[in-house]
Amino acid sequence: MSKLRVNAFTVSAEGFGAGLDQGRDHPLGRGGEQLHEWFIPTRTFQQAVQKREGGTTGLDNDFAARSFENLGAWIMGRNMFGPVRGPWPDDEWKGWWGANPPYHVPVFVLTHHPRPPLEMEGGTVFHFVTTGLETALEQARAVAQGKDVRIGGGAATIRQYLQARLIDEMHLAISPVLLGRGEPLFEGLDLPALGYRVREHVFTEAAMHLVVER
Ligand SMILES: NC(=O)c1ccc[n+]([C@@H]2O[C@H](COP(=O)([O-])OP(=O)(O)OC[C@H]3O[C@@H](n4cnc5c(N)ncnc54)[C@H](OP(=O)(O)O)[C@@H]3O)[C@@H](O)[C@H]2O)c1
Repeated sequence: MSKLRVNAFTVSAEGFGAGLDQGRDHPLGRGGEQLHEWFIPTRTFQQAVQKREGGTTGLDNDFAARSFENLGAWIMGRNMFGPVRGPWPDDEWKGWWGANPPYHVPVFVLTHHPRPPLEMEGGTVFHFVTTGLETALEQARAVAQGKDVRIGGGAATIRQYLQARLIDEMHLAISPVLLGRGEPLFEGLDLPALGYRVREHVFTEAAMHLVVER
């Protein structure tokens, strides 16, 4: 059965998934780059995103590797895709990830502003969905060929899918950093009332990994 999953989504100790004031020089908002200190050194990140050899193995890498397994499609919010806000001025912005993004399957980007699909190298096609979260999920499932659909982020997008009780499994990495201000993941959510519970937790030097399921 195809699952709707969140993986490797990182929050600060106060539950922020990004800092404020995202811009081209701060993809994760101000201070947000500290969140991924558990993830960036891993062999999985180095290979999948940086296209380099090497990197760490161990528990952090195990979670990173699991995050890319059995995926048929992705969903993300428009702010994860990039820093452009409002109507798209042109098609210049093509994501943070270069010509060959690390997705290699269709990616459905939630937005209120229509834009034609964007085909990248390596099998990634960004589709811009303006008809809401349920349609994005239907479209993702339709192309996922029975594999799982992963929500990449950000916090605003994950929150809506949690509120709608549509997420089956969510791996969070809680980083031991304080951002002070940022994009909150848990604000307004009563996860136990929505049917979620913690199934698994482990600590590493760099993060606490939690797996939450419904
Ligand atoms: N911590 C992590 O592991 C992690 C992972 C991924 C991303 N991030 C970071 O998180 C930040 C982005 O998170 P965020 O919470 O600001 O935003 P987000 O969830 O990425 O995107 C929110 C935007 O998506 C569009 N959208 C969301 N739901 C929609 C719906 N139901 N219908 C239509 N459009 C919808 C809206 O854009 P419009 O109305 O403008 O179209 C909305 O403002 C970035 O800094 C990113 O780098 C962090």
